Amino acid sequence: DGDVYKYYSDGEWKKSSSGKSVSIVNPTTRKTQYKVQACTQEEVNKVMETAKVAQKSWAKTPLWKRAELLHKAAAILKDHKAPIAECLVKEIAKPAKDAVTEVVRSGDLVSYCAEEGVRILGEGKYLVSDSFPGNERTKYCLTSKIPLGVVLAIPPFNYPVNLAVSKIAPALIAGNSLVLKPPTQGAVSALHMVHCFHLAGFPKGLISCVTGKGSEIGDFLTMHPSVNCISFTGGDTGIAISKKAGMIPLQMELGGKDACIVLEDADLDLVAGNIIKGGFSYSGQRCTAVKVVLVMESVADALVEKVNAKLSKLTVGPPEENCDITPVVSESSANFIEGLVMDAKEKGATFCQAYKREGNLIWPLLLDNVRPDMRIAWEEPFGPVLPVIRINSVEEGIHHCNASNFGLQGCVFTKDINKAILISDTMETGTVQINSAPARGPDHFPFQGLKDSGIGSQGITNSINMMTKIKSTVINLP
Ligand code: G3P
Repeated sequence: DGDVYKYYSDGEWKKSSSGKSVSIVNPTTRKTQYKVQACTQEEVNKVMETAKVAQKSWAKTPLWKRAELLHKAAAILKDHKAPIAECLVKEIAKPAKDAVTEVVRSGDLVSYCAEEGVRILGEGKYLVSDSFPGNERTKYCLTSKIPLGVVLAIPPFNYPVNLAVSKIAPALIAGNSLVLKPPTQGAVSALHMVHCFHLAGFPKGLISCVTGKGSEIGDFLTMHPSVNCISFTGGDTGIAISKKAGMIPLQMELGGKDACIVLEDADLDLVAGNIIKGGFSYSGQRCTAVKVVLVMESVADALVEKVNAKLSKLTVGPPEENCDITPVVSESSANFIEGLVMDAKEKGATFCQAYKREGNLIWPLLLDNVRPDMRIAWEEPFGPVLPVIRINSVEEGIHHCNASNFGLQGCVFTKDINKAILISDTMETGTVQINSAPARGPDHFPFQGLKDSGIGSQGITNSINMMTKIKSTVINLP
């Protein structure tokens, strides 16, 4: 059936024996755009088997050769940026320009990973025994970093290409094999990206990509005995995975409620610009989006006015036309966002714009005078709606930030750098940005969430290290 995209197993594109497919609905047209194979558990077993075999010889492949292949894949990926970006536009309604940026950023990430990998994996440690009490210098310890085995990568819909390669490239350079389960929305973009790795000429079975229903293969994949590491980015599913997974390393990033704390001395034009970029780019569908503004009462009116002025200039419409605000990923997501907005309305929030929705398209909305009894003060809308909470002290802002069950990133705006650092120290988040909106990149920076926002740290260097184990060899002298 030519209409259904094939999955990738053992170096080949295959149809599933299930004879079933999964539909990908275009968020803009709300019609089926693509179909992918609904893989079976037997097909997952086969993929795991080949991944295990391929990994053994890959681990023995010289590091420089692994790097060379990754550089090749990066170049092919960049060459194919246009068709992949087109899929991103159709599958996840990412504005056309941002879709291209995602692919280019991904190519750069793969190359950087290859370079970083040859360096950090190219050196080990040499220890001597007589530094520990009671020992003579009779033992020499040599350490190196060895691969974990099969890495399972599960990226989310908002960066189906970039958050896939941020798992694939570190896994491969470190000598692991990789099984990818792309999100349904974004699966075809991911399959195209995998094809670039295929064209680069990686050994058969080293990379696989299985598509299908979470209910059929989700748990089966994450609980599979052949999986030696799971790298997951997404929502609450990650918590369920962490409870079911075996004794294997987990790397998880599960969302956030990133606070933007605005002090009285802040440059309000800078803050407003960052709130627009941080809160509304890709219609707020980023884990690191600004999700609550905590502004000192004395400057709140001025800030809200500046944000509203900028907000009114955002274009709203289809991703093909490069609009700033595009339809959110699904109807259920739009309904959830609407639920949060209506709850805030009932409880007395001030709507700075009229709430407007057509299908999955939600117009950007700033909600002022939000209070802690409103759901939107705590929950992650993943949409273009942003609450503003007015605070009377910095402590009140920090308290709100730290009372969240999330702890991904946060930001603070002030001209007083000393104050900013002290505030950063008290904010219980993986990263605090001073005078800029939260963001993951540049992609070699450490990226981690505290509390329900995740396990472990990402960023190129940390991901390579996380996907390896330390192996020691001790030479004992007589
Ligand atoms: O939501 C995914 C998260 O990783 C955000 O990435 O690059 O938009 O800050 P970024």
